[in-house]
Amino acid sequence: MTKLTIEDMAIFCKKKGFVYPNSEIYGGFSGFWDYGHLGVELKNNIKNEWWKYHVQSREDIVGIDGSIITHPKVWEASGHVESFQDIMLACPKCKEKIRADHFIQEKLQVNVEGHKAEEINSIIKKNKLKCPKCSSDFEDTQQFNLMFKTNVGPKEDKSPIAYLRPETAQLMFADFKLVVDNARLKLPFGIAQAGRAFRNEISPRDFLFRSREFEQMEIEYFAHPEQTNKCPFINEIIDTELNFYSAEMQQKNKKPVKMEVKDALNQRLISEWHAYWLSTEQNWFTNLGAKAENFRVRQHLREEKSHYALDTWDLEYNFPFGWKELQGIANRTDFDLKQHMKFSGKDLSIFDEETKKKIVPHVIAEPSLGVDRSFLVFMFDAYEYDKKRENVVLKLHPKLAPVKVGVFPLVSNKLEIVKKAREVYDLLKNEFNCRYDCSGSIGRRYARADEEGTFLGCTTDFDTLKDESVTLRHRDTTEQIRIKIDELKETIRKLINNELKFEEAGKLVK
Ligand code: GLY
Repeated sequence: MTKLTIEDMAIFCKKKGFVYPNSEIYGGFSGFWDYGHLGVELKNNIKNEWWKYHVQSREDIVGIDGSIITHPKVWEASGHVESFQDIMLACPKCKEKIRADHFIQEKLQVNVEGHKAEEINSIIKKNKLKCPKCSSDFEDTQQFNLMFKTNVGPKEDKSPIAYLRPETAQLMFADFKLVVDNARLKLPFGIAQAGRAFRNEISPRDFLFRSREFEQMEIEYFAHPEQTNKCPFINEIIDTELNFYSAEMQQKNKKPVKMEVKDALNQRLISEWHAYWLSTEQNWFTNLGAKAENFRVRQHLREEKSHYALDTWDLEYNFPFGWKELQGIANRTDFDLKQHMKFSGKDLSIFDEETKKKIVPHVIAEPSLGVDRSFLVFMFDAYEYDKKRENVVLKLHPKLAPVKVGVFPLVSNKLEIVKKAREVYDLLKNEFNCRYDCSGSIGRRYARADEEGTFLGCTTDFDTLKDESVTLRHRDTTEQIRIKIDELKETIRKLINNELKFEEAGKLVK
């Protein structure tokens, strides 16, 4: 089968109830998407797994949940009011508006992210690039700030302008002192947050990849300003293999190179902290079923870096439309805390017990991940068309599967079998997200569940009436085991957590 395109994925997601175009009855709304009954479950599972791994299972990271609209000074201090902008190409004739760097990348295969407006103008003129819709010449480029503006308070005209946050990050800086003091954090430590962010993208595209409203899961990880070279956890990931694509490799037109972190550190290709966070993040994805061969780690070129970044590496994924950023990991230094100290006049330094001096910690790494992009990664790596079954099997990791167990009566015209299936459903539904389904043949119901990524199928049949046992079917292999109803809960729990092999969980049905 040819590789699935992003359009194919959008169609599949709509057909199965994962994601819909926003307000489609009004023609849709570009850059906005609605998650359906399966999509919301998968998205919540992704967020829960992220939170467990990055916050609850670590002693050095705590979470917050800041507001979406915040004091406008926050965005002045952060530099977003001045610098959070893209360059726009506008057509005077047909009014088409497009993002200049993406357009040039597409037409000329050169990366001009971060270039100044004058440079973009001259590239457009030199290469005689025209409007893709009507072939007219473009107007001179314009800078376009990506923050959505809104008013706060009842007087629309006189109210101060506020912004919908373009990143969750700033609240970790604005609330820094309160969090550090109350959670009694000691360096190195992190503050995490997951939530919505908004960017008025010039040309949203590629389904969920570039939208105007999205969710982020971010960590600001702080280190002592004099200990930015050494990561105390480096041995945990030293053997992880990453596919490295440094700035130098890109400049010299070399290909990315796969190597273990220890070799990359020996070659001084990357800092310990970046290696640690990139490995930790790739491992999070692969532990949840994503395929390692679809990831690489790419360093930003000098001109690409955000206004706050000293060094940035992206965890990239091989999307059908090319290698693209999944997660940016920037070293933001003490830029943000110092800016907020300057703009608020408040002291955000912390007391260093060792040197008995006040210090401003450095954000040594800011792992910043999009929930919606992660959603796409897990969907692409799970999607398989099974020729024998003649249907899609969505092989999502059991922890991510929107529905854990489909409960089915083998036949729907035998009252006792239906009754038993309902009893099983009632037994399981408080612990696992289950779906009861009695419509159509059992084969059709299994196929439907496979396409929805349902991990297990549990069927009541004539034997259930004799010995209180049911069959449990594995989505990926279609293998079935027979198991007693009173062992179901514990067995399913262990199967989801990978503490038990399926073939050893019951008697294999031939
Ligand atoms: N906080 C970094 C970003 O949103 O890209």
